[in-house]
Amino acid sequence: MNISNNKLDLDFVRSQFPAFQDPLCKDWSFFENAGGSYVPKQVIDRLTNFMTSTKVQPYAEYPMSKIAGDSMDKAIELFAQIINANNKEIIIGGSTSINLYVLSNALKYSIKPGDEVIVTNQDHEANISPWRRLSEVGAIIKEWQINPITGELEIEKLESLLTDRTKIVAVTHCSNIVGTVNDLKKISKLAHEKNAIVIGDGVSYAPHGFPDVKELDVDFYTFSLYKTYGPHLALLFGKEEILKKLPNQNHKFLDGQYPYTINPGGSNHEELASLIGIHEYLMKLFNFHFNNLDISIRNKINIINNLIAKHEEEIANPILEYIHKRKDLILIGKNKIKDKNRAPTVSFTSVKKTSEEVSKILVSKKIATRNDNFYAWRCLEALNIDSSDGVVRISMVHYNSKKETELILDALSNI
Ligand SMILES: Cc1ncc(COP(=O)(O)O)c(C=O)c1O
Repeated sequence: MNISNNKLDLDFVRSQFPAFQDPLCKDWSFFENAGGSYVPKQVIDRLTNFMTSTKVQPYAEYPMSKIAGDSMDKAIELFAQIINANNKEIIIGGSTSINLYVLSNALKYSIKPGDEVIVTNQDHEANISPWRRLSEVGAIIKEWQINPITGELEIEKLESLLTDRTKIVAVTHCSNIVGTVNDLKKISKLAHEKNAIVIGDGVSYAPHGFPDVKELDVDFYTFSLYKTYGPHLALLFGKEEILKKLPNQNHKFLDGQYPYTINPGGSNHEELASLIGIHEYLMKLFNFHFNNLDISIRNKINIINNLIAKHEEEIANPILEYIHKRKDLILIGKNKIKDKNRAPTVSFTSVKKTSEEVSKILVSKKIATRNDNFYAWRCLEALNIDSSDGVVRISMVHYNSKKETELILDALSNI
């Protein structure tokens, strides 16, 4: 079978997401995926089953409890395989903002006055303010600033900021505004040459393909599971050799039992168990397109990522091209996706209308988008955009269709 020739079967994909048959949602083109995605039926079924039969305290010997605990452990095991980590490197928390805040609290004990921390002004605030707070323990905060014209983070600027005192580099894998995929592998290499650790925010990247954290060689990596077709949780990966040295922020008797030492408490049981549904959906997608080929989960993810990327390119590039050509619309970021260099997250402003006005027009045509700064207000200010009105953001994932692309192009042509 020639794997690279396969095309994503959108009817199959959409049949897995009950929202597309739901009376409230079905007439809408949903382009607010960077805010949170719909979930496939496998996740809903897992959640319902857990709540129906195993909603008891897990890890006791009676079957309802045993199954509850087993399914929570299974979810961790599967996600470890999906991102190429081991089970002890996975932490599930309430959100990416919570995960990064908790992580910065744990890391602050290793910061000495005069140590340097690099943050960007492209990131969502979730991966900025927890690191800026380290100034309270004497850290010097340096900002890796975007190019104010292109919105891009340039690697040479990072090189000039890194010193022997750099301890942390916090950077997004993909901007939720600009859409560019940053070269996290290269960033990790440069940071590691100075013995600094890298904290990658994968929130805007992971919905378009789960990353291989070993390949990226990041020290920490986090993404929001509610944007990757799951419930409202977020995953934090941390390298085992670092996690084991961090202080225990949980109950005292758990000393040494990482990764349970990072969060002061456990995660939401039913939602954690329902993450198995994401894996089930991905495997169903794989088997449908690739005939039950028997390879590792991670290899299947790589193949699915390519399948999805091809489709996302097809539906996003006409929109990027159109906005780029319009004189009265200002596109942010690259005007074409090529070789996964950009996510299909398309932000723009209008010369003649506020972002709120444009967004309202789109919504009136049953196109679900919104205007906002999306908590990346530093990025907007650097681009000279009013962060209270923000940008209009059209964000797609693999379940968006060519028909929806046509609808949005039509709606934009009437603005
Ligand atoms: C790039 C990026 N990072 C971090 C976050 C914060 O995620 P959470 O809502 O899980 O705290 C978001 C949320 O929109 C985001 O887009």
